[in-house]
Amino acid sequence: SLQGFDHYMLKEIYEQPEALRNAMRGRLDEENATAVFGGLNLTPQQLRSVERIILTGCGTSWHSALVGEYLIEELARIPVSVEYASELRYRNPPIENNTLVFGITQSGETADTLAALRETKRKGHRTLAICNVVGSSIAQAADGGVYLHAGPEIGVASTKAYTSQCCILTMLALYFGRLRHLSYEGGQRIIQELYGIPGAVQEALNCNERVKEVANKYQDATNVLYLGRQYNFPTALEGALKLKEISYIHAEGYPAAEMKHGPIALVDTKTPSVFIVPQGSTYDKVMANMEEVKARGGPIIAVATKEDPMVDAVADDVIRIPDVPSILQPIVSVVPLQLLSYHFALLRGCDVDKPRNLAKSVTVE
Ligand code: M6R
Repeated sequence: SLQGFDHYMLKEIYEQPEALRNAMRGRLDEENATAVFGGLNLTPQQLRSVERIILTGCGTSWHSALVGEYLIEELARIPVSVEYASELRYRNPPIENNTLVFGITQSGETADTLAALRETKRKGHRTLAICNVVGSSIAQAADGGVYLHAGPEIGVASTKAYTSQCCILTMLALYFGRLRHLSYEGGQRIIQELYGIPGAVQEALNCNERVKEVANKYQDATNVLYLGRQYNFPTALEGALKLKEISYIHAEGYPAAEMKHGPIALVDTKTPSVFIVPQGSTYDKVMANMEEVKARGGPIIAVATKEDPMVDAVADDVIRIPDVPSILQPIVSVVPLQLLSYHFALLRGCDVDKPRNLAKSVTVE
């Protein structure tokens, strides 16, 4: 039931703190400064010998795969490739021995993800699923996996499944990291930071009224750019996808610096750019990109960390999120973008939970 919310999408956005707690429950081992997973069905020796990881999925799940790439490469130093499942299944790339393939999927029924996993498994690679729906086709087809435990996601737009996927991938990166180079202290620190994430998402949800105002102001936009870098580049893609699918407004997500290589030509006074610009390593660079858009007359909506006078000075509208470490920013920074697409859709009279032309799970290729 909707439990007082107007739409499942909104309810599921608000369920994220709880979904994240469920994703972490019983999986953080403070004593050994690592994560634990019951269903990988691989020995530590087998996991230790993994030399490459492929992350595959479709749509929003593909975006969480991009987050996973950054996380696993940084924390575990294992090379990662991210593949669209629809491409991987027919592309026939060379895959080295000791490659582990993860299919990422909320529903566990996406035809292309299932086929990509089956094809790689047939070739003798170990396949695992990161999946929400227990007992789904992909969960059954894989050699093992990790459930999100996010609870049913009914809205066509994936929201809590996405942040839960990012959370699971963070814990997997921690786990693989601790089998390799990540120190005890490093592992401990990440565990403590993870504990703070449900609260940070709760705090990010407080921006709802502010986001509503922003949606009101820009409701006539026909094009929106989403720009972020590093850990917030997938957030830009995900924000753009959410806007397209729920409010039917054309949007493009880019790594902020790529903008100069083409998309900047789209910037005009009627095309807002959403910059995801929390504090962190590329903050100054993203600020420079923001100035470039400003210089061309483009309205700027910034998703920024609390108390950031530099952003205030440049952006037309600022949405504030709590400050969290870079590796965890994807889970927090996407929240205002989910809400933004929701409010845009409402203002434009779109059917939020059942957008046109889309199905919750895509069971045909
Ligand atoms: O169930 P899956 O995670 O495999 O679904 C993949 C995509 O179809 C899905 O994420 C789609 O892009 C969503 N509608 C996005 O909100």
